[in-house]
Amino acid sequence: MSPSVVTTIFEDDLAIVTINYPPFNVASHAVRAQLIEAITQTNENTAIQAVLLTCAGSTFVASADIKEYDNPLQAPSLSTVIDAIEKAPVPWVAVINGTALGGGLELALGCRFRLCDNKANFGFREVNLGLIPGAGGTYRLPRLIAMQEALNLITTGKPINARKAQQLGLIDEVFSKALLTNAKEFTRANVIRSERLPTSEQDIVSPIRRTGIEKALSVAKRRKQIAKAAAIDTISRSAVMAVKDAAALERQTFLELLQSDQSKALQHLFFAERSVPIVADLQSVEPRSIAIVGIIGGGTMGTGIAASALLSGFTVVLVERDTPSVERAQRNIEKTLQDSLAREIITQEKFQNALSNFSTSAQFSSLSNADLAIEAVFEDLQIKNEVFKKLDEVTKPSAVLATNTSYFDVSVIANQTNIPSRVVGLHYFSPAHIMKLVEVIRTESVAPEVFATALQFAKSTKKIAVPAGVCRGFIANRIMSAYRQTCEHLLEDGALPHQVDTAMKAYGFPIGIFEMQDLAGLDIGWAMRKQLTAAEKHNTRYVEIADKICEAKRFGRKTGSGFYKYEDGKTAQRDEWIEQLILAESTRKGIVRCEFSRAEIIDAILASIKDEAEAILQEGIADSPEAIDVVMVNGFGFPRWRGGPMYAASTAKT
Ligand code: NAI
Repeated sequence: MSPSVVTTIFEDDLAIVTINYPPFNVASHAVRAQLIEAITQTNENTAIQAVLLTCAGSTFVASADIKEYDNPLQAPSLSTVIDAIEKAPVPWVAVINGTALGGGLELALGCRFRLCDNKANFGFREVNLGLIPGAGGTYRLPRLIAMQEALNLITTGKPINARKAQQLGLIDEVFSKALLTNAKEFTRANVIRSERLPTSEQDIVSPIRRTGIEKALSVAKRRKQIAKAAAIDTISRSAVMAVKDAAALERQTFLELLQSDQSKALQHLFFAERSVPIVADLQSVEPRSIAIVGIIGGGTMGTGIAASALLSGFTVVLVERDTPSVERAQRNIEKTLQDSLAREIITQEKFQNALSNFSTSAQFSSLSNADLAIEAVFEDLQIKNEVFKKLDEVTKPSAVLATNTSYFDVSVIANQTNIPSRVVGLHYFSPAHIMKLVEVIRTESVAPEVFATALQFAKSTKKIAVPAGVCRGFIANRIMSAYRQTCEHLLEDGALPHQVDTAMKAYGFPIGIFEMQDLAGLDIGWAMRKQLTAAEKHNTRYVEIADKICEAKRFGRKTGSGFYKYEDGKTAQRDEWIEQLILAESTRKGIVRCEFSRAEIIDAILASIKDEAEAILQEGIADSPEAIDVVMVNGFGFPRWRGGPMYAASTAKT
C-alpha cells in the first residue's frame, strides 16, 4: 500500500483535506490518486457542507511533479482531479499556506473560494520550463482576474504576493494568522450559502483587446519565446470558446510544448541549477552560521553585494577607505534599496529593516564581529593583499574571508593571512543584487567547513552558487575571454562589430560582445591588458584594435563612442572611423579579409566556448558540463532556451 499523502478529517459540517507530501507538496501521482479518493469520500458524506483543501508544512502545492514529465502521464491527471473538485456537490475552499505555483495554483482555481496567509504567493512558472499551464490555468484564470493580468501572470512566470492577488480578485481573503481557524469561520459565514458558480462556469472577467494580443504575440515570436507565444495564443483563443474546447486546446498545446526542444533545454537547466550547487563531499559538513557580513569596498560590486545580503536579512557593515567614499557607498546603498522598494521587490517593512541593518565605517576594526567578510576593492593584487593582511588582524579567527576578485589567484590572496584555510572566493556578477550567479572558488587550502559556509551563504541570498577551482577568470570570465578573443580574431579576419553582434543576437544572446564591452566601459580591460608583458602578447594572437580604440579615448557608451558611436547616448550605430581602423589593422598584419555568414560567426563563437569549457572540465575547474551551462546562462546571457553551451553542443542536430 502506498504511504498516505492525503488525509481527510470531518469536523461537523466541514471536511478538511490535507496534502502532506514533503518538501514541496508537489502534485505527484500519489497526491493526485489520493485526492481522487478524498473527493469520493467527501462526496459520499452528506453531513458536510464544504471542504477545505490545505497542505501540511510551509507551502501549498508548489507545482506539478516535473520529474514525471519524462514519462507518459499516469492517470489520474491533475485536470481530472480539478474537474472533480469543481463538480463536487459541496464547494471546496483552497486554504493556501505559503506558495501556490503552477499546478498548485490550478488546484486552487478549481476550488470555489481561495483563502491564504499573508506570506502566500502565486504564480505560473510553466513558461520558464517552455510550457503553459496544463490543468485549466489558461481558461480558469481569466474567469477570476482581468485578461491582461492573467496574461501577465502566465507569460512572465513571475509570482505575485497575497496582497496583489487579493487586489486582482484571485484571492477572497488574506489572514495574517491562524489560517485554518479563520478559514473555517469564513467558510461557515460566506461559502456554505454562497451562490458562486464553479470557476469554469463563470464569465470571462474582461474582454480581450486584439491589438495588444497581436503585438505581444509578435514580440514573443521574434524573441523565439515559443512557450510565451503559445500561452498568449491559447489564452486569447480560449477566451471565446466553450470551456470543453478551451480545455482541449490547452491540453494539446501543453503536450506539444512538452516535446519541444526548448522545453527540454529549459528542463535541463531547471535540474542543473538545482544540482550544480550541491557538492557531494560536503554533504556531512556543517556550515558555520552567518549573521554579520562585512564588505570591504563600496564601489559597484561592494554596494551590490551589500544590498543582496541586506535584502536577505543579514546585518552588513561596509568599510571604505575614507569618509567621502563611505558617504558615497551609503548613498548608493540607500538608492539601491529605494529602487527595490519602488519596483515592489521589497515591502516598506523589509526596506526599513534593511536600512537599519546597515552601517558603514572607514575603520577595518568595525569588522571585528563579522562572521563573513567579502572583499570588493579595486582589481589590484597589491591592494587586495594589503586588505587581507588587515582582515587577518581585525576579524575573529572563525570568520570566513572571501574575495570577489575577477581574475586573481585566490590562493595567493589566502596566503597573505595566517589562516589560509578560512579564505575562499565569492565571485559575483554585476549588478550583484540582481544577478543570480555566484562562483564559489575553492582553493587547495580552504577548509571544507569554510567552503560549505560560502556555498550556504550564497544560497541563503537566493543565488545559484557554482563551485569553481582556481584559474585565471574561473569558469565565466575564462570562457568569456576565450570567445571575446575569437570575436576579435573575426574582426581582423573580415567581420565588423555589428556583424558579430547581430549574429550573436540572432542566436539568442540579449546583447552582442562589442555592444556589451561598450556598455561596461573599455578602459577597465585596457588597464588589465597594459599589465601583460610583451612576451605574453607575443605568445598569443594579440589583436590591437581595442587598445587603439582606447588610445583614441573612446571608452564606450559613457564617452559617446567605442566599438560604435552613440549620438543619442544610448543607441549603438556603426562608425566609419572604427571600420577603417579594423580594415587598416587587417592590412597591417597582412590578413586578406573574407566574408563571414551569420552561421559561420556563431559556429566560431560556439566552438571557442566549447573548447575552453572542455579544457576547464579537464583541469577540474568546473565539476560538470551542467556547471558550465548554469554559469554561461546566468552570467553571460547565453540563451536560456538553448539550455547552455554544453547542452546545445550535445543536442546539436547535424
Ligand atoms: P569599483 O572601482 O567600483 O569599487 C572599488 C571600491 O573599493 C571603491 O569604492 C574604492 O574606494 C574601494 N577601495 C579601494 N581600496 C580600498 C581599501 N583599501 N579599503 C576599502 N575600500 C577600498 O570596483 P568594482 O567594479 O566594484 O570591483 C570590485 C572588485 O570586484 C574587483 O576585484 C573586480 O574585479 C571585481 N568584480 C567586478 C565586477 C564588475 O562587473 N564591476 C564583476 C565581478 C567582480
